[in-house]
Amino acid sequence: MSRVDPTTTDAWQLLSSHLQAPQVSLRERFAADPERAERYTTTVGDLVVDYSKQPVDDTTLALLGDLMGAVGLAGHRGDMFSGKHINTTEDRAVLHTALRRPRDQALVVDGVDIMAEVHDVLDRMADFADRVRSGEWVGHTGKPIRTVVNIGIGGSDLGPFMAYRALTPYVADGMEARFVSNVDPAHLVAALAGLDPEETLFIVASKTFTTIETISNATSARSWLVDALGAEEAVARHFVALSTNAEAVGKFGIDTNNMFGFWDWVGGRYSVDSAIGLSLMLMIGPERFREFLHGFHLVDEHFRNEPFASNVPMLLGALGILHRNFLGRATHAVLPYCQHLDRFPAYLQQLDMESNGKSVTIDGEAVSYDTGPIVWGEPGTNGQHAFYQLLHQGTTVVPADFIGFYEAADDVGGQHDLLMANLFAQAEALAFGKTGDEVRAEGVASDLVTHKTFAGDRPSTMIMAPALTPSVLGQLIALYEHKVFVQGVVWGVNPFDQWGVELGKVLAKVIAPELTEPTTDLAHDSSTNALIARYRAHHNR
Ligand code: F6P
Repeated sequence: MSRVDPTTTDAWQLLSSHLQAPQVSLRERFAADPERAERYTTTVGDLVVDYSKQPVDDTTLALLGDLMGAVGLAGHRGDMFSGKHINTTEDRAVLHTALRRPRDQALVVDGVDIMAEVHDVLDRMADFADRVRSGEWVGHTGKPIRTVVNIGIGGSDLGPFMAYRALTPYVADGMEARFVSNVDPAHLVAALAGLDPEETLFIVASKTFTTIETISNATSARSWLVDALGAEEAVARHFVALSTNAEAVGKFGIDTNNMFGFWDWVGGRYSVDSAIGLSLMLMIGPERFREFLHGFHLVDEHFRNEPFASNVPMLLGALGILHRNFLGRATHAVLPYCQHLDRFPAYLQQLDMESNGKSVTIDGEAVSYDTGPIVWGEPGTNGQHAFYQLLHQGTTVVPADFIGFYEAADDVGGQHDLLMANLFAQAEALAFGKTGDEVRAEGVASDLVTHKTFAGDRPSTMIMAPALTPSVLGQLIALYEHKVFVQGVVWGVNPFDQWGVELGKVLAKVIAPELTEPTTDLAHDSSTNALIARYRAHHNR
C-alpha cells in the first residue's frame, strides 16, 4: 500500500486546530461528565483499559479515528496479516501473528502453507520440552536437566527473559532458567555461578546466528561445558539452537537435529512466541505455552476485526500519536504494579524504540514530524520512591500506562491490596493534583504552598486484568505489538527493520583488533583515537 503523509490529511489539520483551542483540564472533564470513566473504558480479552484520564473528548477521538482511516490503517493491517512483504527494506513478510494462529487456519504465503511449518516446530518444541521436564532427556553423564541457560541478545533475550520472570509462579519445581545477553564476561560468569554442568542445558538463541555477543558467549559456555565434562560429545546433549540459520548452527557445532527453527518473517523483537520462547516453554510446560499463544491470538483477532472506537491497540496507538505529535510529549512511561513484570518496560523499549525510532519514511524520505517516543519505566511502587517526583511536579509531562492485577500470584500479609491502593492513588494524583487553595485549606504555611501544590492534568491509561496468567501476558504483548504497528503506519515508517543498529556494530569490528594490536594505525577522530590509545597504554600494548 502506498504511504500517505499524515500531516497532509484533513484529520491532522483538524486535530491541530481542535487542540489549539484552550484545553479543558481532567478535573473539568470529570466534573462535566459523571459517566466519563464508564464511557472511556473498554476491554480486550481479559484486559480492562480505562483511558478516561487521557486528555480526550469525543471530537478528539473521532478525529484520531479519521486519521487512522486517512492513512489507510485497515489496508496496511490487512497486508500484514495476509503476508504481503510490508518490510520493504528487507523484502520480507511480517507474520508474527501466524505464530499464534490456530493449526486449522491455513495461511498460504509465497506459495507455502506456513501454518503447517509453524505447528510442526511447536510440536517439536513441545515434545522436547516434555522430554526434558520428565527427565527422559538426560545430559552427557545421564543426569536430568535442572537449569536452562538461554544465550541471546535483543529480541532473542528480552522476550523470553521478561516472560520467564512474568510467569515465575508457573515454573516447574526444581527447574530454573538463566539468561545471558551482554558480551561483558561478567554476565556469563554470573549466570554460570553455582551451576552443575551435568544438569545444565544451553539454548543458543539467535535469529541470524551471527550476532557477536551471542556467538562469543556461546563459545565460552561451550568451553566451560567441555572442560567440565571432559568430552566434545557432551555438546550434543547440552546445547540446542534457536535460529533461522541452519548452516551457521551446524558450523558452530550444534547438531541441526537439536535446532528449532523460525522464519525471516519473524522480527527479533516479535519473536518471543516463536522457537525463541523455548526456554519459557521448558519452564512452564507446553500447555501453558499454548495458553500464552492463545492470549496473543485473541488480541490479534480483536485488532483485525474491531472498529476504531472499540479497538484497543488502535486507541492506544492513537493516544500515543496525540501525545507525540500534537502535545509535544517525547517520552512514554510504562509502570507495571507487579514485580513479576519487572522486565516488561525493557522489553517494550526494544519493541517500540527499535520499531519506530526512525527519521525517514518507508520510502526513504525525511519525516517532517516526530516519530517513536522514548519508552521507559519501572515497576511500582519502586518508581514512586525514585522518579515519580518528576512525574508529579516536573516541567515535563510524561504520559504513562499503568498495569495492575486484581489478584496477586503470591500474596503475603495482604500486601497486594496495598500495592493496588498505590496504583490507583498514583493515577488519581497525577490526573487531579492538588490546588493551592486545597493546600492552604490544610493549614500549610504560605511559603510552602507552591511546593506542596500539584498541577495535575498528567495523563495516564490504566490497564487491569484479573491475574498475570500466560494468556494475559500474551494479550499484553500483542496489545503493544499492534499499538506499535498502528503508530508505524501513521508515521509512515517501516517498524520492521533496524538499520540504525548497524553502524556501531561495524565500527566495533574495526576497533576490536586495534585494542589488541598496537602497531595498527588509528584513523578515527581525535577523541576515539585517544580513547583507544589510553586503553592500550593501560594494558601496556
Ligand atoms: O542488533 C539488533 C538486533 O538485530 C535485534 O533486532 C535483534 O533482536 C538482536 O540484534 C539479536 O539478533 P539475533 O537474534 O540475530 O542474534
